[in-house]
Amino acid sequence: DASRTHATTSRGAFSSSLGVLAATLGSAVGLGNIWKFPSLTGANGGAGFLLIYLLSTLFIGLPLMVAEIAIGRQARANPISALRQLQPRGAPWWLIGVAGMAAAFLIMAFYSEVVAWVFAYVAKALSGNLLSSDPVQTQASFDALVRDPVQALLWQWVVLAFIGGILLLGVTRGIEAATKRLMPLLFLLLVLLGGYSLTLPGAGQALSFLFAPEWHKITPAVVLTAMGLAFFKLSIGMGTMMTYGSYFTAEQNIPATATRVMLADLSVSLLAGMAIFPAVFSFGFQPSAGPSLVFITIPAVFAQMPGGSVLLAAFFLLTAIAATGAMLSLMEVPVVILHERWGLSRPRATLLTLLILGLLGAGCALSQSTLAAFQPGGRTLFDWADYLSSNLLLPAGGIAIALFVGWAWGERAFAAQLSNHGQLGNQGLARVVSLLLRWVTPVLILLVMLAGLGVFSG
Ligand code: PHE
Repeated sequence: DASRTHATTSRGAFSSSLGVLAATLGSAVGLGNIWKFPSLTGANGGAGFLLIYLLSTLFIGLPLMVAEIAIGRQARANPISALRQLQPRGAPWWLIGVAGMAAAFLIMAFYSEVVAWVFAYVAKALSGNLLSSDPVQTQASFDALVRDPVQALLWQWVVLAFIGGILLLGVTRGIEAATKRLMPLLFLLLVLLGGYSLTLPGAGQALSFLFAPEWHKITPAVVLTAMGLAFFKLSIGMGTMMTYGSYFTAEQNIPATATRVMLADLSVSLLAGMAIFPAVFSFGFQPSAGPSLVFITIPAVFAQMPGGSVLLAAFFLLTAIAATGAMLSLMEVPVVILHERWGLSRPRATLLTLLILGLLGAGCALSQSTLAAFQPGGRTLFDWADYLSSNLLLPAGGIAIALFVGWAWGERAFAAQLSNHGQLGNQGLARVVSLLLRWVTPVLILLVMLAGLGVFSG
C-alpha cells in the first residue's frame, strides 16, 4: 500500500506521555463544554438530559474512544490508510475515514462561526459594553453581533486565518505548550465563576434543574441529542481520535488516558453548567435560549463582580484557546488525509482545507442574517450542520467503528493495543470492551438513532 510509505516517512508524533494527555484533552475540551453542553442541557429540560448524556459517555463514548485510539496507534496512519491497512482484504471499512472527513468539514463549518463569536466577545468585553444583568440588554448585544453579516463573516475569517497561521507557521507545538499552561487557568476561572454563581439567589433552582430529573421530559429526541453530545464532546465517530491515536507513544496506557480525558472533560462541562444556570434563574433568562445562552448569561454574572469586564475578556480568551485546541484536532483529519493519501504537502493540504471551509463556513456565518429566511426543512444551514453531524454522522461513524473492531479487526490485535502487548496485564478489560463493541454498542446506538429520528413513532 503506497500510503504506508508516505505515512512512515513524514509523520509527527507526540513526544511525551504528558504531551499525549494534553493534546487529547485539548481536542475534547472546547466549545462543546462551554457553549454546547449548557445550551443543550437548558433546551432539553436539564437533569434528565444530563443523566442520559452521562450514561452515553460512559457506556458508548468511552469504549469507542478507546477503540479509535487503538486503531490509530496500531496503524500509525491517517484514518483512511489506517482502516485499509487493518481491514480484511477487499472490505470497504476505509469508507469510515471518508465519512469522517465529511463530518470534520461539517463540524468546522459551524464551529468556526461560534469561535468567531467568542473572538468578537473578547474584543467587545474589553470595551466594557457587554456587562449587564438585564437579559434584554445582553440578548440585544448578542443579536447585534450575529445578525450583522459583515461582522459574522469577518470574525470567521479572522478565526480561519488564525488557525491557518498556527498550522502554516508550524507552531502547533507552541500552541500545545500554551494550552497545557492555560487550560488550568480556564478551569480556575470556571471554579471561581461557579462558586460565585452558587451564591446567587437562583442557585437552588439551578441545582434542582441540573440534578433532579423530570422523567417526562426524556423523549427519544432528547436521548438522541444527549448521545450526539457525548460523541461530539469526546471527538469520536469521525476519525479525530484515530488520528491522534496514530501519534500516541507505544508506552501510553490507552484505556487510562481515555478515562482521564473523559473525566476532566466532564468536570469542565459541569463547572460551566454551575456558572451559567444560577444566573439563568437569578436574572430571569430562559434556560432554553439555545446557542446564545453562554453569550448572554456569562456577562450577567460578571456584571456583578468588581473588575467584571477584564474577567469577562479573560473568560472568553481562555474559551477561545480551548476552542483552538479542538479546532486544530478537527483540521488535522482532512489535512493529514490530503497529505498522506493525495500527496499534497502539509501547507497545501492546509490551504485547501481552509478554502473549502471558507465556502462552507459562510453558509453558517450568514444563517442569522443574509440567509436567515433560508430554512429548508425548518432549520438554518448552521442548525443543519450542527444537527447532521452530531445526530447522524458521528453516531453512524460510531456504529461502523464498533462493528469494525468487534467483527473485522480481531480481538487479539485490539487486546494487544489496550494492554501494550500484555505489559499492562489488563486482558480481562480488552475482553469486556470487545464484547461490548461487538454486541452492545452498535445495537444501542442504532436504536437510539432510529427512535430519535422518529422511525418508531410512525
Ligand atoms: N470535542 C470538541 C468540543 O467539545 C469538538 C470536537 C468534535 C473536536 C469532534 C474534534 C472532533 O468542543
